Amino acid sequence: MKGIVFNLLEQTVSDKYGEDTWDALLEGAGLEGSYTAVGSYPDEELIALVDTGCAALGVEQDDLIRWFGRAALPLLAAKYPGFFSPYDSTRAFLMTLNEIIHPEVRKLFPGAYAPSFEFDTTNENDLGLAYHSHRNLCSFAEGLIEGSADHFGEAVDITQATCSKRGDQLCDLHIHFTKL
Ligand code: HEM
Repeated sequence: MKGIVFNLLEQTVSDKYGEDTWDALLEGAGLEGSYTAVGSYPDEELIALVDTGCAALGVEQDDLIRWFGRAALPLLAAKYPGFFSPYDSTRAFLMTLNEIIHPEVRKLFPGAYAPSFEFDTTNENDLGLAYHSHRNLCSFAEGLIEGSADHFGEAVDITQATCSKRGDQLCDLHIHFTKL
């Protein structure tokens, strides 16, 4: 996983819980923690940090990863405003994931494996988003989608009919959008 994701975790944790908490997470996970944005680091390190946080807070892994995604999105919006500014809805923004955002990410961060999604655009107030990755980070996707909705002043209701963590082929996310 690219170091930018670790950098985002450090910033979101430090902003909410303080830098000491980030240091405690590193220590608890037995990690050094000098992550550079373009470097690549084992996924296990990210999971070790998440699991240390889960044990300290008494929360489930999916809930912590979802929180992380939602808290990270405003940082991405500040860093990459050009991905957001042409759009005025969460749905329109999300539909650029495959064609614009993640392809750019693969150029900016050589060696990045950023997931592609299959879209179901049948209903104009909803979006079907099928996610498949060896990383099984659908809760990160959910958090990033919730953060995107915050950005566009919308509420989202996300359900997952299937999930690879429950033994299914892929995670079938269904998103319903409401303007606030
Ligand atoms: C400005 C917007 C975004 C940027 C710059 C961005 C960038 C990235 C980067 C750098 C990674 C790490 C790739 C790697 O380490 O190989 C990543 C992974 C990921 N992104 Fe995005 N992303 C953005 C928006 C989103 C949104 C809105 C979603 C929601 C569906 C999303 C879903 C994911 C997921 C689930 C991963 C985890 C990797 C995996 O599943 O294998 N991203 N993204």
